[in-house]
Amino acid sequence: MILPNCVKLRYHFIMKVINEYFERLCEHGLYPTRYRVLKKNGIKYKILDEDTDQMLEVDNFCSNDVLGLAQLDEVRNAAKTAIDRFGASNSSCTFYCGRVSLHADLEESISSFKKIPHTHLFLNAWMAVQALTDTYCHLAMKLPDYSPKTRTLIMVDHMSHSCITSAATSAKLGISGQLFPRKDMVVEVKPYRHCDAENLALRLKKYASKGDRIMVMTDSVFSMEGTIAPLPEIIEVLSNYEGAVLVCDEAHSSGVIGKRGGGIYDHFTIDPNHVHERGIEPVTLTTFSKFAGSVGAAISSFNKSFTLLLDAARTSSGTASLSAPLAAAALASLQYLEQHPELVATLRWNANYLRTGLNNEGFEVEGETAILPVKIGGIPPQDFARKLLYEHGVWVSPVWYVDKPKLRIMASVLHTEQDMDTLVESLVMVRQKLA
Ligand SMILES: Cc1ncc(COP(=O)(O)O)c(C=O)c1O
Repeated sequence: MILPNCVKLRYHFIMKVINEYFERLCEHGLYPTRYRVLKKNGIKYKILDEDTDQMLEVDNFCSNDVLGLAQLDEVRNAAKTAIDRFGASNSSCTFYCGRVSLHADLEESISSFKKIPHTHLFLNAWMAVQALTDTYCHLAMKLPDYSPKTRTLIMVDHMSHSCITSAATSAKLGISGQLFPRKDMVVEVKPYRHCDAENLALRLKKYASKGDRIMVMTDSVFSMEGTIAPLPEIIEVLSNYEGAVLVCDEAHSSGVIGKRGGGIYDHFTIDPNHVHERGIEPVTLTTFSKFAGSVGAAISSFNKSFTLLLDAARTSSGTASLSAPLAAAALASLQYLEQHPELVATLRWNANYLRTGLNNEGFEVEGETAILPVKIGGIPPQDFARKLLYEHGVWVSPVWYVDKPKLRIMASVLHTEQDMDTLVESLVMVRQKLA
């Protein structure tokens, strides 16, 4: 299509700003290097630096595949078989075009893993949490003769993942994707201090009004800090607010914390059913891109109507359902974890080994899980990570724009003691050079 001159001018103007901004970003060294993965074998990766065209053979310490299931034969074969049975895509949503049997099998399996009876699947965490707030705060579908006129107060741990903060803040505007929001369902959003149940109690006292529907949203394990939410204390606070909903994002806790890797309830040996019986509604978000060798997400709750309504939310009914190979890979991962609970202990052992090794060399490491955020003083994390990659063949994530500057290292069951020793030695050498 040939653009008329006036459109071209406008187009040029918009792109000029984008181009200028992008150039500045690169000049400041703020845009991440793009790497292309050419081959994977366990933690051994062959990658291409797209800026320099250089090929590198590296040990991966940045993948979230903490249990090493993404490349496991059982998981790969399950995905291949599912493609043969159902094809690569479901090509529609479940609301209008039904589910594949794998969806039901996976939902049942997650419910049993989380000990929460009803589960609904999504393409990813963002869509799941958006559906959750659309459904809970605004009721997913409008009914002409039902207008409950409610106010929901959402309390969010201020370090929560952006899928939570994004869904919570957009809930203030109404149902996602609706140009004319309904006015009868009001949503207020307030942050509380990171992992601070006392602050949550204070803020609830200050902001909750009689008749409010209360929803507390938190990561179970925080993705940039590796900290664990204080579940018992949060439950105590919420026991003063009957019917409060407690949403835990289990992205980094499933398969990682708790004796059987069940996540935050398993970690604190709290039965979600007991919490439910105390008048608090536990809702969990499970994702498959970390502990399970797949991608996708699920919301579990004790309320069947709520889980059924999730299917009517825009981020369910307005998009294709989780493809069969992804559902099969997630299901096979869950089954494998059930048969091999020792994976959880191995991961914990590796994370502790790495944390101790780093501490012994004077590195400050935050958190207490498989995520190891390492403080590196005033050294720019991009430079640190680049030197590690090019001179020592170890790949870690530099973090500078979503959080304070640090290196984010992920422990995995696939790392050997030697891999971890090499990583620590490399960090020491690079620190010496750059400090
Ligand atoms: C705490 C948390 N929640 C949600 C997500 C998104 O998960 P997914 O990419 O599996 O949808 C992430 C991803 O990094 C995360 O760290």
